[in-house]
Amino acid sequence: MKWETMLLEEDCLRLIDQRKIPQKIEYFKARDYRQVIFAIKEMVVRGAPAIGATAAHGVYLAALEFKKLGGNDFRKEMERALQELAASRPTAVNLTWGIRRMEKAIKENEDLEIEKLLEKLLQESRTIAREDVEINEELGRVGQEIIPNEAGVLTHCNTGALATVGFGTALGVIRAAHAAGKNIKVFVDETRPRLQGARLNAFELLEEGIPATLIVDSTAAVLMQKGEVNVIVVGADRIAGNGDTANKIGTFMLSQLARVFKIPFYIAAPISTIDFDLEGGEDIEIEERDPREITHWQDQPIAPEGVKVFNPAFDVTPAEDITGIITEKGIIRAPFKENLASIAPGGDKD
Ligand code: MRU
Repeated sequence: MKWETMLLEEDCLRLIDQRKIPQKIEYFKARDYRQVIFAIKEMVVRGAPAIGATAAHGVYLAALEFKKLGGNDFRKEMERALQELAASRPTAVNLTWGIRRMEKAIKENEDLEIEKLLEKLLQESRTIAREDVEINEELGRVGQEIIPNEAGVLTHCNTGALATVGFGTALGVIRAAHAAGKNIKVFVDETRPRLQGARLNAFELLEEGIPATLIVDSTAAVLMQKGEVNVIVVGADRIAGNGDTANKIGTFMLSQLARVFKIPFYIAAPISTIDFDLEGGEDIEIEERDPREITHWQDQPIAPEGVKVFNPAFDVTPAEDITGIITEKGIIRAPFKENLASIAPGGDKD
């Protein structure tokens, strides 16, 4: 790879601008936490683990900005900044997970002088980023066993290095299978309406030299009917304690097709994407995005003015339709509630 998804610098955060790929590789420089919020909202950066690491560095940038205030004012401003960061996108739980880790680092070091506290926060945001790559590599090692030696693999949205700090989750599993010498053919859903599949997944697969075929989302059924798809692997934005999984809109439909055509359907995600506080998928907040994502194409209308629009960014796949959840601690299968609990921080396998 000739690029990095993000560079956590001492005075800013540089993010590869995912709105511009594949036309251009350009970096967006977030100089303060407000620009970090802008980048998350506008999808300069997207993908659950990438959003988590971005928000964590946003917390560090807020502390850098408010360091002169000291005492109570510092604490008050930080509290407000953390709340604003947490509200930037609602579905991916990694966002609040990243912020909570930084909050913990603030609490543990609150007696230090401000410069020392800042050092600790920079260290923590860099640790979160480094661990993300390590976790994804492990997830790839663990997960590649689900991919047969000769296989058609279908995937949705972008779950690669761009959606994480590096390597990727579902795309990491595919990457690891390819590196292990498996003869795979990847079918890439374009992923309406933001085209993360066409613009980002296809871009990463081509760059890696992994055979990939781009399809419109509605071609998936035909490929399955023809017997071209042996396994489906996708990422996740939030997994409830019972295994119900929120991921990019269209994932639920794929899971239902997989059931009809008896194709194994896997989720690949780090443990930080599991929301152990949520019992089931009905409690996951689903983000609804701007109708213009559907009614317009690069500012040109492609639908009649005034048409009603429903544009949820995610849907929830019920646990019963999931073959397994690939995590850095192994592949979790049904019964999901018990088996996920065993990998929870503080659980049997922690
Ligand atoms: O709206 P996005 O592009 O942030 O949605 C991303 C997805 O749904 C991904 O599949 C998910 O975050 C997993 S990324 C490793």
